[in-house]
Amino acid sequence: MKSTTDFLKMKQAGEKIAMLTAYDYPQAKLAEEAGVDMILVGDSLGMVVLGYDSTVPVTTNDMIHHTKAVKRGAKDTFIVTDLPFMTFHISKEEALRAAGKIMQESGAHAVKIEGGGEVVETIRALTNAGVPVMGHLGLTPQTAGVLGGYKVQAKTAEAASELIEEAKKCEEAGAFAIVLECIPHQLGKEVASQINIPVIGIGAGPDTDGQVLVFHDVVTFGVDRVPKFVKKFADIDFEASAGIGKYVVEVKSGVFPDLQQHTFEMKQEELSSLYG
Ligand code: KIV
Ligand code: NA
Repeated sequence: MKSTTDFLKMKQAGEKIAMLTAYDYPQAKLAEEAGVDMILVGDSLGMVVLGYDSTVPVTTNDMIHHTKAVKRGAKDTFIVTDLPFMTFHISKEEALRAAGKIMQESGAHAVKIEGGGEVVETIRALTNAGVPVMGHLGLTPQTAGVLGGYKVQAKTAEAASELIEEAKKCEEAGAFAIVLECIPHQLGKEVASQINIPVIGIGAGPDTDGQVLVFHDVVTFGVDRVPKFVKKFADIDFEASAGIGKYVVEVKSGVFPDLQQHTFEMKQEELSSLYG
């Protein structure tokens, strides 16, 4: 299993880090078998798995439940779990309690925490307590309500230099890596060159130290609309709906199950005594 120092070495060697979300046992198994370097149990699970229209309703117990399933599927992969909405703003104590609970009950190796300056001291407190922390700047979905939706962030010089400062503060506070979401590609490159910890981009261009995408977006699985930064690498919806459609047709027409192929038989002598 790779560790936080391995990710740092990968950045130094210019070797890209491939990160993917996963929310359950089969997804985690697929991710690990494909050679994903790091799995994120994202609170995006609220939207892509649970069908909420934002990440706000996701709870610490939801994150634990899904991380446990991911752990069982990817025993040899570094797992980062999101700290959900409102678990790390009220106080540092609450953030420590939530992160401690997630790590002890689910086996996550690290937590991810959205935000800039306002969470820097929390990142420091978590790191000091032994919790590896991944930062998350740019588009932060938990605050989409305040940002006015899911839009490209830090497009002005002023906002960009603020983001660079925040990335430096996250590094200084002890974060082992940061996610940059939905920002101009030039800024993704700039941040990756100005800080020493790995920068994992999602919609942040090709020059970050790695990429992360949502499992369901990568394989087209139950998602209605995907952002511009997503590339469709497979089409599970197409395969699955064709298969399920055939299943329904064959059940109704009696083609499935086939008497020879899919059924079990009782010996003739047993049958005779059954019928007396
Ligand atoms: O929840 C999530 O999936 C995320 C990534 C998209 C970075 O936070
Ligand atoms: Na998230």
